[in-house]
Amino acid sequence: MADTSQKPNTKGLYIKTYGCQMNVYDSERMRDVLKPLGYSPVDSPEAADLVVLNTCHIREKATEKVFSELGRLRELKQESGGVLRIAVAGCVAQAEGEEIMRREPAVDMVVGPQSYHRLPEMIAKLSRKTGDVLETDFAAEEKFDALPKTRDVDGASAFLSVQEGCDKFCTFCVVPYTRGAEFSRGTDAIVAEARELTRQGVKEIVLIGQNVNAWHGAAPAHDGRGGEWGLGNLIRHIAKIGGVERIRYTTSHPRDMADDLIDAHRDIEQLSPFLHLPVQAGSDRILKAMNRQHTAADYLRIVDRARAARPDIAFASDFIVGFPGESDADFEATLQLVKDVGFAQAYSFKYSPRPGTPAAGMQLQVAEQVKDERLARLQSLLNEQAQAFNDATIGRKLDVLFSRNPRRDGQALGYSPYMQSVHVDGAAHLTGHMATIEIVGATMTSLKGRLVPAIAGALA
Ligand code: 5AD
Ligand code: SF4
Repeated sequence: MADTSQKPNTKGLYIKTYGCQMNVYDSERMRDVLKPLGYSPVDSPEAADLVVLNTCHIREKATEKVFSELGRLRELKQESGGVLRIAVAGCVAQAEGEEIMRREPAVDMVVGPQSYHRLPEMIAKLSRKTGDVLETDFAAEEKFDALPKTRDVDGASAFLSVQEGCDKFCTFCVVPYTRGAEFSRGTDAIVAEARELTRQGVKEIVLIGQNVNAWHGAAPAHDGRGGEWGLGNLIRHIAKIGGVERIRYTTSHPRDMADDLIDAHRDIEQLSPFLHLPVQAGSDRILKAMNRQHTAADYLRIVDRARAARPDIAFASDFIVGFPGESDADFEATLQLVKDVGFAQAYSFKYSPRPGTPAAGMQLQVAEQVKDERLARLQSLLNEQAQAFNDATIGRKLDVLFSRNPRRDGQALGYSPYMQSVHVDGAAHLTGHMATIEIVGATMTSLKGRLVPAIAGALA
């Protein structure tokens, strides 16, 4: 526990983040919101005056993890004599706020993903012991307007949230209920934030949203042509900001893969040749029951269009096995789609019924053991593909942005243009830089590289 009697103006803040990149962004912004109140990040809950759990509700296990973490924090709060404050944020807060307050009295505040700009007021109310400590309104616009215009980032890569929420209502998914309706931030606000990031030395901007390619916004006034922009035009615009060396975007929906976005892959040098495009399943019957609003053939057509625009583009995807009613033949169709595309990376999950979603109440839930077997088969195919993709880069020279904290002394750690993790030993000076690296080894999940001699000289 931080001794506030000796340091009256600083308070320790510990945020634990679960789930997707949207939560990673939100946690950063919560730090920005709490900074003026004297909160600065500490490395452990023990050193904190305020602990925030920024939670994820997408699958069952995530929720249970939150409750067990809260159990540990309750003890810490008791040891602190009740001084430690505990807040639950994110999608579990949104979906189960009242239940959390009831089930875990140690929790002081519950704040949904669209309300965390209200944390300062909530903390004030808590001190006065008055008013609401549960905020789960949906007002993405108000949130973005209220967030500080400055951002405190360190590192070469930063997330920039451009879109939130989802109107697609896939029948398995809680996101439309926890994150609310699709909302696109205004073009000018996004461009201003991108400039702010580059001012702080950021080289890679990762545009994020639950359905990032559903983003649309008015063309900025200086564009002169007016009209609406899609994500492709936004990327073109951000690419012109000085200092932007790389742009990525995630996560996309097949329905929203517009031509302007595909064309951006052909035209924009800084745009990574990498597309995370969840397909979930390969059987049209299951895709329909999932309300995905696309068929397997639609997905394959997008893959072809993207490859025609940018032949080396790499694909990543998300898969769910054991959706209600999935037969052996349906599952085989998923395996076939995987073979037809050839993925560089993938995330695959067993279907987990989520309360309040249509699929949770469907007949013909698949037995756990069948889900286990299908997941194992799918993952073994996807692992083979990941290994093959990585092996194929051995001997190539790739531009790597060393944006990550190294795991070992003297190492530099970053990502290739295809989002492969790359490590180079004895090259710590590359951290924070982009450099051309020769790939000399590959596992299923990472690449080993070495400096190309001419570059080594230039950067040494
Ligand atoms: N069960 C299993 N996986 C799910 N996902 C979303 N909801 C569920 C669920 N109920 C997966 C999807 C999505 C990813 C973020 O999580 O594959 O793309
Ligand atoms: Fe969930 Fe489907 Fe929306 Fe993605 S598109 S967030 S899977 S409802």
